[in-house]
Amino acid sequence: MARRHFNAAIPLACLALTLFLSAGSALAETVPQPIAFSHKIHVTDYKLNCRFCHSSTNKSQYANIPSVEKCMMCHRSIATDTPEVKKVAKYWSEKKPIPWNKVIDVPNHVYFPHKKMVNAGIPCLTCHPGMDQAGTAVQKLEFGMGMCMECHRKKKVTIDCWKCHY
Ligand code: HEC
Ligand code: HEC
Ligand code: HEC
Ligand code: HEC
Ligand code: HEC
Repeated sequence: MARRHFNAAIPLACLALTLFLSAGSALAETVPQPIAFSHKIHVTDYKLNCRFCHSSTNKSQYANIPSVEKCMMCHRSIATDTPEVKKVAKYWSEKKPIPWNKVIDVPNHVYFPHKKMVNAGIPCLTCHPGMDQAGTAVQKLEFGMGMCMECHRKKKVTIDCWKCHY
């Protein structure tokens, strides 16, 4: 009896610890970026779909950042005389990738397969709220274990520890 009680207590204690830890950690402020890219201009004003740029999100575990080539599809001719777009063109002519800084970072022991959730129809903005109004990327939602579990429970998806942890 005592043993059974003990076994159940482990995951519960872990969960409580995690919630405690994530409650204390602050969300990232705006991360400095090499170019003043605006999500709002591209997504809200010009109606580009998130997946036009982040095209691997329904095909892969990882979400990609678009290449300079993708930017140049439009910026060979659009807003070419603005200082920020000139920077884009400079990376292109020098054949260098734009050194964007990472904004979101989930610890390595967590397995998060984008394609599973995107193909299940969960909108990007459910997990990345405010991105349609942002300049460069912001993270407004804490990706603690609690937010994963809440939705998985609600949608009757797996809450097996080893599905999300390596
Ligand atoms: C499908 C076309 C398209 C693609 C692809 C695109 N843009 Fe744009 N971008 C636009 C349009 C349209 C504007 C608004 C221009 C205006 O207001 O005159 C814009 C505006 C901008 C501006 C602001 C220019 C200013 O006024 O200062 C920057 C910076 C920019 N884009 C960077 C990028 C980068 C970096 C990429 C690649 C990650 C990219 N864009 C991809 C169409 C595009
Ligand atoms: C169910 C929640 C959820 C949904 C839906 C979701 N994301 Fe994410 N996204 C995350 C998490 C969690 C991470 C961090 C993953 C990691 O670090 O392994 C992330 C990371 C990213 C990153 C950064 C990738 C990197 O490696 O730097 C981009 C870009 C991104 N998501 C775009 C999107 C787009 C576009 C969509 C919609 C097509 C989308 N996401 C849908 C939760 C989600
Ligand atoms: C025109 C191309 C373009 C479109 C459309 C676009 N993004 Fe991005 N996204 C970028 C670029 C470039 C970056 C890297 C610079 C930055 O952090 O803002 C980025 C960064 C991100 C990141 C952070 C990645 C990291 O480093 O952790 C997330 C999350 C993200 N985008 C989500 C979205 C979502 C959600 C949408 C739709 C609402 C969207 N993006 C639409 C180009 C785009
Ligand atoms: C808003 C709802 C929602 C959130 C938030 C969410 N998920 Fe999911 N997740 C789903 C759905 C729906 C599926 C099932 C997709 C399917 O059936 O193929 C899924 C599937 C998965 C799978 C695949 C499970 C399997 O059986 O192969 C993993 C792993 C996963 N999610 C990890 C995470 C992690 C890690 C987080 C938090 C960072 C998270 N999810 C947040 C809705 C969500
Ligand atoms: C749906 C996905 C998901 C499932 C299922 C899940 N976890 Fe997590 N877990 C996460 C995420 C996301 C984090 C947050 C990592 C962070 O930001 O610290 C986390 C963090 C943790 C941590 C804290 C580690 C640290 O970095 O401090 C522990 C311990 C943990 N989980 C144990 C468990 C146990 C035990 C189970 C099974 C009862 C479980 N997890 C099931 C997604 C999941």
